[in-house]
Amino acid sequence: MSLRIMTVYGTRPEAIKVAPVIAAVEADKRFENIVVVTGQHREMLDQVNEIFGIVPDVDLDVFGHKQPLAVTAAKILAGLAPVLEEHRPDAVVVQGDTTTSTAAALAAFYAGIPVVHLEAGLRSGDITSPFPEEANRKITSQIAALHLAPTSESRANLVRESVDPAAIAVTGNTVIDALLATARSEHPFTDAALESAAASGRPILLVTTHRRESWGPAMEGVGRALRRIADAHPEYLVVLPLHRNPVVRDAVLPPLTGAENVVVTEPLAYGEFTRLLGACRIVLTDSGGVQEEAPSLGKPVLVMRENTERPEAVAAGTVKLIGTDEDRIVAEVARLVTDDEHFVSMSTAVNPYGDGAASGRAVAAIAQLLGVGSRLDDFVA
Ligand code: UD1
Ligand code: UDP
Repeated sequence: MSLRIMTVYGTRPEAIKVAPVIAAVEADKRFENIVVVTGQHREMLDQVNEIFGIVPDVDLDVFGHKQPLAVTAAKILAGLAPVLEEHRPDAVVVQGDTTTSTAAALAAFYAGIPVVHLEAGLRSGDITSPFPEEANRKITSQIAALHLAPTSESRANLVRESVDPAAIAVTGNTVIDALLATARSEHPFTDAALESAAASGRPILLVTTHRRESWGPAMEGVGRALRRIADAHPEYLVVLPLHRNPVVRDAVLPPLTGAENVVVTEPLAYGEFTRLLGACRIVLTDSGGVQEEAPSLGKPVLVMRENTERPEAVAAGTVKLIGTDEDRIVAEVARLVTDDEHFVSMSTAVNPYGDGAASGRAVAAIAQLLGVGSRLDDFVA
C-alpha cells in the first residue's frame, strides 16, 4: 500500500515551487499523489497548473475579488477539513508563507496529520514586514513535523527558535528546479508588444510589484518612479507584467499612461516570464520568487522593500534593498544604468538558493519522516 502525500497550495508562487515536488512524488512508487488547490488565486494559479500539466484532484475554489484574508483563511479551514477526512493523507505538504499555506497547515494539524513545510525558516525578523507572511511562516514552523529549509541560513533561523535539528532538512529552493526545467523549452511571447520589445534589442528594465505592506502611497510612488525612470532613460524599455490585484493596478498604472517606452502586460506564463528575466538588463521588484531566480541568471536586482527574509543574494552582492521611496528608486536605477562598474559588480551569476535538485531532497526527507527511506545530503550553496 502506497503512502498518501497531499500537497495543498493556492497562489502563483506556491504553484511554481510545488510543481517539481508534485512531479517527484508522482514518479515515486512509494507514494500516492493527491493535489489540492485552494483557489486563493484564480487565473494566476490556473496559468501555472496548466504550464506544469497539473490537474488538481480537489479545488476548494475559495477565490474572491479583494477578499479579506480572514475570509480566505476561514474558507480554507472549513473547506479542507472534509477533504482531509475523505482522503486521510499520511502527510500534508504546504509551501511558504501565504494564507493558503498557514491555513492548510492548521487544518492538517487539527486533523492529526503531519505537516511538511516546504521553504521553511525564512525570516525577516520583523513581524510587520512582509505582512502577513513573516507571521504566517512562523506559525507554520510551530506545527510542522518536517521543515524543508532551502538554505543553511534558514536552517539556522529554525534552530535558533528551538526547532529540533533532526526535523530539518536543507533542500535548496525548489524554485530553481522549476526555473531550470522551464529553461529547457522555447517560450514564444503571446503578447505581440513583448515579442517586438525583445526583438528591438533595447535594454529592458523588468518590474514586478504586489506586496501588501506597500499598498497605498508607497505603491503610488512606485508608479511615479517608473514614469520618471522611463522618461530619464528613453533608450530603455520598462516592462511591467502586472499582478491581477486591482489594488496594485489602480496604484501603479495612472502615471504610466502615454509613456512610449513602458510595456504593461497581463501576468506572464512562467516560461515567458523566465525568458524575459533572462533577456532583461535590470530587475526592479518586491517579489520573493524573483529575488531567488534573478541572481542565478546573473541579473542585478533592486528590491523595493525595507527588509528581506532572503538575505543570501544580498550578501552575495547581486541583490540590493532600496525601499519604496520614489526618489531612491529613481536614483538607484539611474546608478545601475550609468555606472558600468556598479552594474558589473551586481551582475555575477550566483546560486545561493538551489542547484535544481531540491525536490529530490524534499521527497527523500518526506520518505524518512514516514519511515520508508532515508535522506539525501543537505544542499550546500
Ligand atoms: C498573495 C500572498 C503573498 C504572495 C502573493 C503572490 C497572502 C496573504 N498573500 O498575495 O504572500 O506573495 O499572493 O502573488 O497569502 N487576484 C485576481 N486573480 C488572481 C490573483 C489575485 O484577480 O489570479 C486579485 C483578487 O482581487 C484578489 C487580490 O488579487 O482578492 C489579492 O489576492 P490575494 O491572494 O489575497 O493576495 P496577493 O496580494 O496576491
Ligand atoms: N512570475 C510569473 N509571471 C509573471 C510574474 C512572475 O510566472 O508575470 C513568477 C516568477 O518567476 C516567480 C513567481 O512568479 O517565480 C513570483 O510570484 P509573485 O511575485 O507573485 O509572489 P512572491 O514570490 O512575491 O510570493
